[in-house]
Amino acid sequence: MQRTYINELKNHIGKEVLLYGWVDVRRDHGKLIFFDLRDSSGIVQMVVLPNHKEAIEKSQPIRDEWVLEVKGKVNARPEKMVNANELNGEIEIEALEINILNEAKTPPFDIRSDGKEINEEVRLKYRYLDLRRGRLQKNIKNRFKVQKLIRNHLSDLGFHEIETPLMSAPTPEGSRSYMVPSRLWHGKFYALPQSPQQYKQLLMVAGFERYFQFAHCMRDEDTRGDRQPEFTQLDLELSFTNPEEVMKLNEELLIKLVKEVYPNKKIQQVPFPRISHKEALEKYGSDKPDIREDKNDPNSLAFLWVTDFPAFEKTGSDNIDGTGEWTFTHNPFSRPQDKYLEDFRAKKNIGNILTTQYDITLNGFEIGGGSIRNHNSNDQKTVLEIMGYNEERIQNNFGHMLEALSSGAPPHGGIAWGFDRLIMILENEPNIREVIAFAKTGEGKDLMMGSPSEVGDMQLKELGISLRDNKKK
Ligand code: AMO
Repeated sequence: MQRTYINELKNHIGKEVLLYGWVDVRRDHGKLIFFDLRDSSGIVQMVVLPNHKEAIEKSQPIRDEWVLEVKGKVNARPEKMVNANELNGEIEIEALEINILNEAKTPPFDIRSDGKEINEEVRLKYRYLDLRRGRLQKNIKNRFKVQKLIRNHLSDLGFHEIETPLMSAPTPEGSRSYMVPSRLWHGKFYALPQSPQQYKQLLMVAGFERYFQFAHCMRDEDTRGDRQPEFTQLDLELSFTNPEEVMKLNEELLIKLVKEVYPNKKIQQVPFPRISHKEALEKYGSDKPDIREDKNDPNSLAFLWVTDFPAFEKTGSDNIDGTGEWTFTHNPFSRPQDKYLEDFRAKKNIGNILTTQYDITLNGFEIGGGSIRNHNSNDQKTVLEIMGYNEERIQNNFGHMLEALSSGAPPHGGIAWGFDRLIMILENEPNIREVIAFAKTGEGKDLMMGSPSEVGDMQLKELGISLRDNKKK
């Protein structure tokens, strides 16, 4: 007999079916035993009647979250018992044979609630159980729906999804990189990427013209509600492009995914309004203003493009680069706007130079940002010089980029979305952890896997590492 998924049961009324799933809840009603059986597609009520002796006996020890194989008959519920609001409110399974496939300990928390009342650390420690709850199942499945739509849409537009390495050299995105020690080269380290920025530009040099990727990015920064040490970007890049084309393409994609996956949501204004960075600060005191007219409406989506960012800013005390008087605002690859190129090349009026960067914000969150790049090697070098890098550092850190840009690099530009942030807002969640299957705590810990964790002496020795602060447990 072939398995039937629970969401297909309505097509099998009066027939026998084979079901697999978990006991969502068990209720004893004297001689009758009721279970709600849950699989990845839905939930159905199941009754074990006293005349099915063996099934009744088998049911006695069964508790919540046990894993069952059930042969049963799909019965229409008597009219009085119909619950029109439920997926399977019109039917009920009469269990004929029950086979226990696995038992389950009593879960440490309620899996049937939305989970908001449960301590987050416990939820993350038992994430595999937490993920069983309806709210998280919905979030993770909708995340995939959006991802699938994006993949199809971009592939129809001639984009190719290309993977880029996770073990690499540091790319400056204004944060710290996670480092991975090398066993073969003691004292040397790989960096985990803060974004695939350099690789995607190199793919443009390589002639792919239209690239995208759902990319894992790692940034060693303090975690917040909309920040994780490891997160996902929808990263894309195009050759022979301009800001208008990139913005239009992204706007169309955002509108399409809202319409198709979140039809109840209303986009406040189309085309998305635009504001300059200066005006945003003056008018709202924020470079990611929440411009929703009705902030109480959970279905309101107010997208906003922010443009005309300064290219450079004075180095502050929190500048991790600590080199010169100026540093980049977005990333060091952004190209200044055409009208400032002369000053830029002459390294004049640096504080006034505006860059091609565009950010996309949604309901007060920055959900993406990008720019047109310096495709010309000299311009790229000028950025680094303005930042006070000396020739040696330029060659060490960026020599490969300058070399590539002098090898026939096409004009190019792109953007990256904070994919988790976007899904968080679309799902009305307060935190990106709710839309990431295996998220880390606010302190950057994975409580389920127990990371970060200590490393044994042997392994440290192999890596050529001795700990300065070698605290033993
Ligand atoms: P940027 O650094 O602006 O640009 O990152 C793009 C988007 O990624 C999201 N984001 C994060 N989401 C969750 N956790 C984090 N720690 C985190 N950090 C950033 C934000 C942000 O807008 N390479 C460039 C893009 C480009 O120029 O094409 C880049 O990474 O939503």
